[in-house]
Amino acid sequence: MVAFGSGERKAVYSAIYARRDIRRFRDEPVPEAVLERVLDAAHHAPSVGFSQPWDFVVIEDDGTKAAVAGIAERAIAAAHEGYREPRKAAFGALKLEGITDAPVNICVTCDPTRDAPHVLGRNTMQEMDVYSTCLAVQNLWLAARAEGVGVGWVSFLYPHELRNVLEIPHHIRPVAYLCVGYPEDGFPDEPVLQQEGWRDRLDRDELVHDGRWEPAKTPDGDTRSERETDS
Ligand SMILES: Cc1cc2nc3c(=O)[nH]c(=O)nc-3n(C[C@H](O)[C@H](O)[C@H](O)COP(=O)(O)O)c2cc1C
Repeated sequence: MVAFGSGERKAVYSAIYARRDIRRFRDEPVPEAVLERVLDAAHHAPSVGFSQPWDFVVIEDDGTKAAVAGIAERAIAAAHEGYREPRKAAFGALKLEGITDAPVNICVTCDPTRDAPHVLGRNTMQEMDVYSTCLAVQNLWLAARAEGVGVGWVSFLYPHELRNVLEIPHHIRPVAYLCVGYPEDGFPDEPVLQQEGWRDRLDRDELVHDGRWEPAKTPDGDTRSERETDS
C-alpha cells in the first residue's frame, strides 16, 4: 500500500484521539479472535534491531488476578500515605486499577537478552529494549480501542512480587500490567484524571521547540518547569 485513503487516515487519528485508560469494565468476555488481533497488532510494533523483546502473559484466572490485585492494593495504600491534603483526599477518590473487574489481564514483559549480546542499535542506549516494549503496549492499546475494547495500565505494583505471582524469570522485566475488557461506561472524551481535576493536558505549543531545547514561556512569562515547582 502506498498511501492511506482519507477514511483510513481518519480512522488512525480517531483511534489515537479516542483511546482512553479504562478502569471500569463490564462482566463480558473478550472474544478469542479479538484478543488475538490485538496481540498480533502489539507484536507488529517497531523494536530496536528488530529484537522484538516482548512477551505477553495473558491472565484470565481469578486467583491470579486476586493475587495481583492484592499487590496493587498495598502499593496504592503506600502511595496514598505519601500525599498531603488536599491532594491526599483527591488521590483516595481515584480508581487506579480494574484488575479483578477486567475479564483479561495482560502482563507485557521485556527480555533484555533477546538477540543479545549484539542488538543492532542498542550499543549506547541499553534501555531501547524497554522503549520497544512500550511501543508494543501502545499498538495493543490502539488496536483494542479500534475493537471497542478498553485497556487500563496499572503501575501501582511491586515488580518483584509480580514476578513471583507470574513466575517471571529474574532476567525478564515486567514492563506493563494491563486490564483489558469492554468499558462499563464507554470511552470518556477526556482522560479520567482530567475529568477528576487531577491534571489538565498541557499546551502542545509549549512543548514544541524550534531547533534546540529551551524551556517555553507561559503567558505569565514563567517557564513551565518554574510554574510546576511553585504549585
Ligand atoms: C506508563 C503508564 C502507567 C500508568 N499507570 C496507571 C496506573 O497505575 N493507574 C491508572 O489509573 N492509570 C495509569 N495510567 C493511565 C494514565 O493515568 C493515563 O494514560 C493518563 O491519565 C491519560 O489518560 P488517557 O490514557 O485516557 O488519555 C498509566 C499510563 C501509562 C502510560
